[in-house]
Amino acid sequence: MIPRFLLPLALTFFPAFLVAQDKPAPEKPGAEKKEGQDKKDKEKSAAKVDFQKEVWPILEKRCVECHETPHTGPDGKMKKAKGGVVLDSKDGITTSKRGKLVVAKNAAGSMIYESISLPADDEDRMPPAKKGDPLAKEQIELIQRWIDQGADFGSWTGKAKATDKAGDKPTEGDKPKGKDGKESDKDKKAKDKPKEKENTQALLEAGLKALPATTLAALQGGPFSVASIGDNSPLLEVTCVGRTDDVDDAALAALAPLAEHVTSLDLGHSRVTDEACTVIARMSRLTTLDLRQTAVGNHGVAALAACSQLRSLNLFGTKAGDYGIAALSSTKKLENLYLWQTDVSPGAVVRLRESLPETRIVVAAELPEPMAEGAGGNGRRRGAK
Ligand code: HEC
Repeated sequence: MIPRFLLPLALTFFPAFLVAQDKPAPEKPGAEKKEGQDKKDKEKSAAKVDFQKEVWPILEKRCVECHETPHTGPDGKMKKAKGGVVLDSKDGITTSKRGKLVVAKNAAGSMIYESISLPADDEDRMPPAKKGDPLAKEQIELIQRWIDQGADFGSWTGKAKATDKAGDKPTEGDKPKGKDGKESDKDKKAKDKPKEKENTQALLEAGLKALPATTLAALQGGPFSVASIGDNSPLLEVTCVGRTDDVDDAALAALAPLAEHVTSLDLGHSRVTDEACTVIARMSRLTTLDLRQTAVGNHGVAALAACSQLRSLNLFGTKAGDYGIAALSSTKKLENLYLWQTDVSPGAVVRLRESLPETRIVVAAELPEPMAEGAGGNGRRRGAK
């Protein structure tokens, strides 16, 4: 294995070398340049790589056996993607919690490219040495070109199995990527895994009737904006953006008649306190709750343990502490928990990770990934923190 510090050099010079050859790709001699492409692209004069036809077959053949969307195998056991890296769907590739798998127009900064272009004997090379030879040079170059051309997936969205309920959650050994992971992905999860969402949605909707229009009309003029999550779903999305100052515990009581229907609730920056959480606790279909920058503390958070469907809970900048967090150990479906700028101690985070090994617990603003103090000893390439 070559010393790590040499790697950036290799990655920097490799692409330059390829561009310098300045000749059309051999793979697609007949392909013509698209009109309207900017000058830079023309100079590269490489035929546009078709993801589905050219790149996907490589991934499918050499990567997907280990990097498949998590699903239940024939033995009834969960089959997870290795390293939390999912390569059989566009979402998996573009929204990986592991870091930047693909950075458009920057192959050298893309983990996929990095992993396949490592020296053959590097322990991190993909596919792993025990799985055979590295990709062929032409395949590596093809993937590089695809990324450098903008990583366009065309109409391909993936091979993910529509019936899976579990998403590409990080596995236990996961650790933050220091190198390219600097971008905060706190908002990214919002667009994660539409398929999985659909399934969750169907389950939550089962047996639920839409609220009568009069119930919703009663909220008109109040500080909340209430809407169906779409497609005439009886499930509701509630926010108070723009009216946060008007939302306190008393105002929240107006949502009680909707409790069964609310699946997403954004109370960030509002004036709610622990008391509001007793109303929220009755929202049995709640999957997303944002309480950031509110006065909610331990008692409120502990009450939220009743929301058994919670997938995402944002407690950033609240008064949540160890006691409240401990109660969340029963919210097994929780995928994302945001805890930075709270009173939660590192020890409490470690304990919660033991109860919720699948949950991504974010404790620092600048890190897109959970810190790994609770995870196994492999600190390879972890960003210093
Ligand atoms: C035999 C199983 C296997 C195959 C096949 C495989 N991988 Fe992996 N991959 C792994 C494992 C295991 C990890 C986690 C390594 C770790 O966390 O140290 C991983 C991690 C990764 C990572 C994250 C690396 C990092 O630095 O954190 C990327 C990117 C990746 N694989 C891409 C690929 C690509 C692209 C292919 C196909 C060319 C591929 N893998 C094929 C097992 C595999």
